[in-house]
This record gives sequence, C-alpha cells and structure tokens, in this order.
Amino acid sequence: MKHKIGFVLGRETALSVAEISAVMSRKRVSWQVYHFQSPIFILESDEEEISKINIEELGGTVKIFEIVSETKDVLSELTKWELSQQNKRVNFGLSFYQMRPTPFLGKELKKHYLSQGLKARHVVGKMPELSSVIVNENKLIERGFEAIIIRNGNSFILGRTKEVQNYRDYSRRDFGRPARDDARGMLPPKLAKIMVNLAGKDYKASVYDPFCGSGTVLQEAALLGYKNLFASDYSDRAIADTRANLNWLEQFGLSKKVNVKIFRNDILNPQTIIQNDAIVSEGYLGQPITRNRERAQSDISELSEFYTGALKNLKKMLKPEGILVLAVPFFIVGKERFYLPSLEIAKKAGLILSYPQIPLELKGQKTLTYSRREQFVGREILVFKNK
Ligand SMILES: C[S@@+](CC[C@H](N)C(=O)[O-])C[C@H]1O[C@@H](n2cnc3c(N)ncnc32)[C@H](O)[C@@H]1O
Repeated sequence: MKHKIGFVLGRETALSVAEISAVMSRKRVSWQVYHFQSPIFILESDEEEISKINIEELGGTVKIFEIVSETKDVLSELTKWELSQQNKRVNFGLSFYQMRPTPFLGKELKKHYLSQGLKARHVVGKMPELSSVIVNENKLIERGFEAIIIRNGNSFILGRTKEVQNYRDYSRRDFGRPARDDARGMLPPKLAKIMVNLAGKDYKASVYDPFCGSGTVLQEAALLGYKNLFASDYSDRAIADTRANLNWLEQFGLSKKVNVKIFRNDILNPQTIIQNDAIVSEGYLGQPITRNRERAQSDISELSEFYTGALKNLKKMLKPEGILVLAVPFFIVGKERFYLPSLEIAKKAGLILSYPQIPLELKGQKTLTYSRREQFVGREILVFKNK
C-alpha cells in the first residue's frame, strides 16, 4: 500500500521542496511525487514513516494535510468525514487550490450538519484558500476541519489539514527575542530552520555557524534537536547577542542537554579551527542599500573576494563529507539580478554543489534563492559538500 502526505508550501516553493526532500533523506524515507502544482506538493511512499512528518520539523511548509480521497463528488465525501464527538458545534473551512471556490459547497454542508442536529459555522476568508492564521484562530482542526480541495483534471483530491505552521512562535523568535540588530541583518527563523534542514545531518552531528550575528541559526538548530552547537563571529556584540538569545530560548522547551560553544573568530584569519559535520550560516550581505548597476557590480566583486577567502577557511572546518549551507547575497536592480560567482568560488575552494533531489527547474543561476518583492538584496541559499 502506498502512503501519501500533502504539503502546502511557503512562498519560496523550490526552497520548501528542497527542505522536505532533505528531511526525507535524513529520515531515510524514499518518495515519489504524487501531485505537484505550487503551492501543493503531495508525496507517496511505500513507507508509513512518510506520514509521520511534523510541521515543527519544517520551516518552509505552511500546512500539512492527509489525503482522504479522490472524488468527483466533493460534497458527499465531506459529509462522511468524522467529527470530534466532544461538542455539538462544527467549525469548518474549505480551501480551494488550482480552482475557484464553489460557494454552494459550504452552504450545502452547513445544511447537512443542521439536519444532523449540529450547529455549524462555515469559516471563510478573502482568498480561495484559508491562511494558517484563520485555520488556527477559528480552531478548525480541533472543532471541525479544514478541507483542502485540489482540482486534478476532472476530479478532485480531497485533503484534511493535520497541522498549520506556528506563526506565533516564529514571530516571537524573530521579533520577541532580547537581542536584535536590524542593521546587521537577521535571518528569518523559518529560513534558518530550512537551512539547517538542508544540511541533512542527523541530530548527533555538530553544527557550526561562523557568522552567528544574533544566533538565529543556532536557535533553530537547537529547537530541531541538534545538541552539538558551535557559533562564532568577529564582533563581540554578536557574541553577546547570541548568548542572550540562546538563554532566552529555554522557554521554548529546549533540552538542557544542548552543548553550545560561542567564541570569537575572524573567518578571514581564524584563530580557532574546529572540524564540523555541518556549517550552516548567513555570511556578510553587504550594506543594506539600493544599488544601481555599477554599484551592484562593484559590490559583487568586493564580496567575491571576501567569500573566496572565507570559503577557503570554511572548507578546513568541515569534516570529510561535511556539508556547508551558506546564504550569500544577490542584488536586485530593476528586473536584473546580480549574483556572486558562488559556484566558481566554491569549486576553487574544493567544495561542490550538493542540493537534495529537487523535482523542479531552478531559475536564475539555477540555485535556490530567497527574496521578498520589495527588497533589493536577496539571498542565494547554497549547499556544498566537502569533497
Ligand atoms: C548578516 S550577519 C549574520 C546574521 C545572522 N544569521 C542572524 O540571523 O543574526 C553577518 C555576520 O557576519 C559577521 N562577520 C562579518 N565578517 C566577518 C568575519 N570576517 N569573520 C567573522 N564574522 C564576520 C558580522 O559581524 C555579522 O554578525
């Protein structure tokens, strides 16, 4: 029997898919794509383990759903769904993907519940699909369900949401921590989690962030379950910030068994060389300014020099088969994008690009990226293996 599991992916689809693929490899679960049309990604596998994945393990997934059936008659399928027996009130929501909403469905379903003596509330949003905030705040999973309705040719795949992303905790870990430095630039915690996952190492592995800033990578690695953590920066303020943020993190249920070492190190001239299973880091991004083409080109060549030196030293800090996951900047000028020659720099340092299996065509210089529409500095997310 094949086991299936569905994901509603975050904004950066390719990155989210790569993360799921890396996590499945870490768990040694083999999979095939059953259905993929952004933002919906459904996998199937012979192994039951595939359906046990938990949303807290992933930074780039917004919802996880089970596949209930494939049907031409959504209404009659939905009326068969089991409801929690605890209360006589059903809160339900319908999210439509790859199709327009069909308003009669909610009305008919509500009528059906009333005829069964149940009170029913159909929760709607402005979009054809409900956000994780709506699903969570209306307690749809606890008090009823969110149905994921996906057009697939002339029938529908019907899914039931199991979990949605914990947007509150992410926001608290981003904006609520004691030490923040907007000028230095901080990774969004979701992206930090994706990057740790892209390394694909098991939880016994050591993870090192050599440009730790305020400690976002370490924070997410610790919460995922990594227990051997190292962080360094050449700035004393960054070291103090990382310490303060990690201490604060204990409220998220961090195990006391985590070993963390935080120290000062200039990566261009490192005093301390330690060998790690994984290095996961966001390097220097350049100044947070808008650029014209000339400035973008000159900054790219300056940063190329920085990363040539940095990668040579970082390679020395990787064990054989060690993985380096690095976020480096690219600049957006109008419709143009200026990338670092990152693959050449890595090759010269003896590192090779090593992405997990990604069943889609990558854009730009065929690497994974993360950017927001209004921003002029994006991040290229690179995964290298030590040869
Ligand atoms: C973009 S920030 C990293 C932000 C971090 N990921 C976070 O979420 O807070 C880059 C960091 O690299 C550090 N840095 C820059 N050049 C360095 C060098 N040569 N050696 C060590 N650290 C360096 C800076 O002090 C800064 O904290």
